[in-house]
Amino acid sequence: MSNKAWFQNRLNDHYLLKSRADSYRSRAAYKLEELDQKYKLIKPGAKILDLGAAPGSWSQYALRKTGGKAKIIAIDLLDIEPIENVIIIKGDIRDPENQAKILELAPNGLDFIMSDMAPDTTGVHFADTENSVILVNLALDIAEKLLKPKGNFVAKVFEGAEYNSLLKRTRSMFDFAKSCNPKASLNRSRELFMVAQGFKGNPNNN
Ligand SMILES: C[S@@+](CC[C@H](N)C(=O)[O-])C[C@H]1O[C@@H](n2cnc3c(N)ncnc32)[C@H](O)[C@@H]1O
Repeated sequence: MSNKAWFQNRLNDHYLLKSRADSYRSRAAYKLEELDQKYKLIKPGAKILDLGAAPGSWSQYALRKTGGKAKIIAIDLLDIEPIENVIIIKGDIRDPENQAKILELAPNGLDFIMSDMAPDTTGVHFADTENSVILVNLALDIAEKLLKPKGNFVAKVFEGAEYNSLLKRTRSMFDFAKSCNPKASLNRSRELFMVAQGFKGNPNNN
């Protein structure tokens, strides 16, 4: 095993053990924690949408960060064990009915949209990145409809050919947008996180 692979395995073990000790459902919580500590994405009282939420560690982190004072809507294809203060929808975010449900649950808009959605990987780089970009564009479509002005956004994306056009779209919607690679993401994975702050608002809503 190369030194790099050895180090990656140790890092993975470290976050796994830490997530058990901290009672997080997954080590993914530390990716959000790192992004939030750097960019101050989550504020007490925030109304949050958690896309691709199972098993639930991002929602857990957001609740802990706000001392339980966040209202969260979480959606995933998979079951999510109940979490206090979190409304759970089981289903596909690509289904317009689920999008309509979210619109109904957040009539006054959202302060933060976070997406850790990852498509089922096929092993074909082009297909995997394209499917990931589709999910991020969908999260941005929802942001256009539901995010309050000045709201924040974070979404996981697999780096690929369409990444630059995605970044361009995100920059056109927010005051600030940048891609990040948190330490808790394994280096060998191609995932990046698009972080955006200060939603400019939807001109059609004015
Ligand atoms: C990496 S996991 C999320 C981990 C989660 N953030 C946590 O901290 O526990 C990615 C999730 O995205 C979900 N997902 C992928 N495509 C989806 C879709 N179209 N609609 C809803 N969820 C989706 C998967 O089912 C999977 O549970």
